[in-house]
Amino acid sequence: MALDIQPKMRGNVLMGINPMGLKQEIQNQINYVKSQGTYEAPKRVLILGASSSYGLATRITLAFGGGADTIGVSYENGPRTERNLGTPGWYNNIFFKEAAEAEGLVAKNFVGDAFSDEMKANVIEYIQEEFGGKVDLVVYSLATGRRTDPETGETYRSSIKAIGQTVEGPDINLEKEEFYAGHLEAASEEEIEATVKVMGGEDWYIWMQALHEAGVLAEGAKTFCYSYLGDNLNRSYYQDGTLGRAKADCDAKAEMIADILADINGEARVIVATAVTTKASAVIPFFPVYCLGLYKVMEEEGTHETPIMHQDRIYRTMVYGDAPEYDEVGRLRPDSWELRPETQAKAEELIRQIDAENFNTDFTAWDTFMHEFLNLNGFDVDHYEHEEVTLEDLQALEP
Ligand code: NAI
Repeated sequence: MALDIQPKMRGNVLMGINPMGLKQEIQNQINYVKSQGTYEAPKRVLILGASSSYGLATRITLAFGGGADTIGVSYENGPRTERNLGTPGWYNNIFFKEAAEAEGLVAKNFVGDAFSDEMKANVIEYIQEEFGGKVDLVVYSLATGRRTDPETGETYRSSIKAIGQTVEGPDINLEKEEFYAGHLEAASEEEIEATVKVMGGEDWYIWMQALHEAGVLAEGAKTFCYSYLGDNLNRSYYQDGTLGRAKADCDAKAEMIADILADINGEARVIVATAVTTKASAVIPFFPVYCLGLYKVMEEEGTHETPIMHQDRIYRTMVYGDAPEYDEVGRLRPDSWELRPETQAKAEELIRQIDAENFNTDFTAWDTFMHEFLNLNGFDVDHYEHEEVTLEDLQALEP
């Protein structure tokens, strides 16, 4: 039976995958980083949520731009049948590792639940026994809808909702290629709390506490957690909604982690990243329409970025470069291009005119958005040439 490698969508979730397309996509990202040259970066890095989009891009820039050995933690599934080839991140881990090892770099993948005590213990043991005993940088890039608290065994599910108001606005169904009037409910107190439990900073804090107690953080170690703020155009459903509440919790935890790390002169910071097309962002109500308008403007301005471009710029020019931009509470702000007042004003003007007739035309950045969205699962990948593989070939690949 031939492998089923068609893009299939359910709502705004892309289901089908093309593993060899993902391999080429990783290579494209590596090539991008290499085209920018090398930079001085720490050599021992732990990335939580390393298998796709922002976490993966972080891993690629630090390895291929900074020469770092990396440990990546992610939650992914491997291939089971010709029709169920697993998740994109499964292959991203494998093909990243293959490429990194070919250049003499260490690339260790842990696949399982980052929220669990067991994963934390396994990673710490690996750092102690096989990774030279210390890490210099820990990046927290998890995105998920569910978390089981290891202390209580209770499972929390996040809700992407507004707070204290309902929100109406234009939305798109990618599966049906349909533009419609969306409606977002107000969250209950319980839903707000659960979302903070899942997408807030608690687990980041627990990780940093465990790593610090185990003595595996190097002197001067840094840790970052990725956040998003946006502005007036998406405030009602993001910053003022449940996700915004979770991100505010990350700000609070950054301060607590900085206190813990004071004795090793460590640094804990939130990095507010720009809006990009990812598995996580495609399912945020109204957000794809915001991206269609924003990208169009930023492409015209020459500032539109994919995750690899953004993360490469963050580490090369800001974290380990000489052009960091901080806000008044100490967050790193590479999202400043997205938030330029002229850019937001132009995006607002454009978004106001997006309708059912023009949302999927050149009037918006539809082609760019769909290209990036399909790339996530290995489709529509630049320079990809079809390569025949079997289920057995794929099952023989190990993370
Ligand atoms: P993504 O969905 O592409 O990646 C999420 C990662 O988390 C994957 O590696 C996945 O395997 C891992 N993961 C999920 N649950 C896990 C678990 N239980 N155990 C271990 N690993 C698990 O998400 P994306 O978009 O790259 O988001 C990463 C971070 O960046 C999030 O904090 C997000 O809020 C933030 N961000 C995203 C923006 C966007 O536009 N996509 C903008 C600014 C910040």
